[in-house]
Amino acid sequence: MTAPTTTAPTDEEDRPAPPHSGGDPFDRDSLPAPPRATAALLRSLLAPLRARVALATVLLLLQQAAVQTGPLLVAYAIDRAVPAFRRDDHGPLIAVAVAYVLSAAAAGALQSGFILASARVNQDVLLDLRGRIFRHAQALSIDFHERYTSGRLISRSTTDVESLRELLSEGLQELVTVILSFVYISAVLLWLDLGLGAVAVLSFVPLYLLIRLYQHRAGRIFSRRSTAIAAVIVKFAETMNGIRPVRAFRREAVNDADFHVLNHRHERINGDSMLEMARYVVGSRLVANLAVAGIVLWGAHRVASGTLALGVLAAAVLYLRRLYDPIDRLGMFLNSYQSAAASLEKVAGLLAQVPSVPEPADPRALPALASRHPGREVVFDDVRFAYRTGGEVLPSFSLTLPAGRTVAVVGSTGAGKSTLAKLLARFYDPTSGRVLLDGVDLRELSVRELRRGVVMVTQEAFLFSGTVAENIAIGRPDATREDIERAARAIGAHDFISALPDGYDTDVRKRGGRISAGQRQLVAFARALLADPAVLILDEATSSLDVPGERAVQRAMHTVLRGRTAVVIAHRLSTVEIADRVLVMEHGRIVEDGTPAELVAGTGRFADLHRAWRDSLA
Ligand SMILES: Nc1ncnc2c1ncn2[C@@H]1O[C@H](COP(=O)(O)OP(=O)(O)OP(=O)(O)O)[C@@H](O)[C@H]1O
Ligand SMILES: [Mg+2]
Repeated sequence: MTAPTTTAPTDEEDRPAPPHSGGDPFDRDSLPAPPRATAALLRSLLAPLRARVALATVLLLLQQAAVQTGPLLVAYAIDRAVPAFRRDDHGPLIAVAVAYVLSAAAAGALQSGFILASARVNQDVLLDLRGRIFRHAQALSIDFHERYTSGRLISRSTTDVESLRELLSEGLQELVTVILSFVYISAVLLWLDLGLGAVAVLSFVPLYLLIRLYQHRAGRIFSRRSTAIAAVIVKFAETMNGIRPVRAFRREAVNDADFHVLNHRHERINGDSMLEMARYVVGSRLVANLAVAGIVLWGAHRVASGTLALGVLAAAVLYLRRLYDPIDRLGMFLNSYQSAAASLEKVAGLLAQVPSVPEPADPRALPALASRHPGREVVFDDVRFAYRTGGEVLPSFSLTLPAGRTVAVVGSTGAGKSTLAKLLARFYDPTSGRVLLDGVDLRELSVRELRRGVVMVTQEAFLFSGTVAENIAIGRPDATREDIERAARAIGAHDFISALPDGYDTDVRKRGGRISAGQRQLVAFARALLADPAVLILDEATSSLDVPGERAVQRAMHTVLRGRTAVVIAHRLSTVEIADRVLVMEHGRIVEDGTPAELVAGTGRFADLHRAWRDSLA
């Protein structure tokens, strides 16, 4: 049989998203998990909950024992209590009725106990897992995030965690119940009547084969399905994150078409899984009903010939119904088991990633600062660097920035200026060589010390949700309102902030959408100033400001940068004038180095740039 709804080739469906190709594991939806990582993850999630898991298991065992006495009592009623009743002996029938009610009540009580105990386990596992995904993803290095999209991370912590939830809250309990009832019922049937018991047990051979077949086929479909839904989420997140360029370039139609393809691919795979399920249900019902019919025929024959009590046959049929009833749904439980296994494997693969910029096990401290603002010396010692994707950006780079000086870095687009800055902020580690801060390799510094020592302000000037004051205070969480205002005043941001609807308490909303790009830069500046780092990196940090705004910041910078080591990267040469020294960078190398006056007076690249800039002003 072939799936009638499937038209696209399957290998196309196995790909995460249309534009990807190649052998990089990041191009696939999931990163490979090391062997046994999934099982280890599950164990580590359950380990702290051992006592509760044991309690839930015991409750379930007892509950099953109570539930499965029902048909046995019916058999007793038919074969013993009713004949006794006919002889006017009411005792046995009353005893059966009481026992029936008691076992049902006990089963109910045990069941609710089990639900409570297992719900706590489930909640704790999911809580733990979501927390781990978040913490781990946040701790991973920048280069990880550049390749593993945020949409996929969202998919890990939503759909994948959700599929584990489904397994824990429904699937697992049902699965264990089916297995337990199989054991109980087989044992009781064999005890009641060896022949009937044997037929029931044998009927499980074809059922087992059916289940295995189903599992095999459905497992592959589930893995594809979770990849497909991740691709849908990735597309969604990417589009909405980039809604402005989407609008500006009228990408809506293209996006709609792409989304349509991804959405339908997911739907088709879902259809495939339903089809597998339907086949399984038909097969399992057939086996189950044939077994019941066989037992009824054979049992009736034996009852007529007097070798089997009627009550035992009735109990056998009741038991078999109970046994086969959940078999249909067993497919569904296995579904949730398999999709949870596929999801958990993806999560395990993510959690197995190690930061490429690891925190040192045994961090070194920076030497104490001699005065309040001496800055720190920065040395690039024969640094080579290449991004994971792409050629070498810095080929053998050496540079010393003396403490407390302001250095401007200029150069054409793509020269490697931001790369230099990011290495100094340790977003990446050099491929070889060292970056030293006051003689200490950045790799030996604790993240805490590094972030306190080096702060970078970039063009993006990202604002977090919260108020303006909170955004500035990120630089120093214990800052008072006076400190915050002082920083804002120093940078010339106070006036615009005061003019906002709620002043410093204005909520910046999503990505600072209510605040202009230049204002965002001012807030980011104030944040960096408040953080009071020894080394301040400004990468195009004033690029969005208007000329008066930039002038104001420049005036402020004389005080802000005094006594700090500052690296100012800028295209606008006006920004460069405050520097003690200018570096001109091309193709990952310093091609000119001197004071602004020296370079302007010379005949090099900077002099050309400066002349062109002067002319443009005139
Ligand atoms: N995350 C990245 N992954 C791969 N390559 C990158 C990455 N970031 C930058 N590059 C490459 O490294 C080179 C240097 O980029 P860099 O951002 O350092 O330039 P820049 O001097 O800051 O340029 P601009 O003036 O445009 O900001 C460029 O060729 C760029 O394509
Ligand atoms: Mg740059």
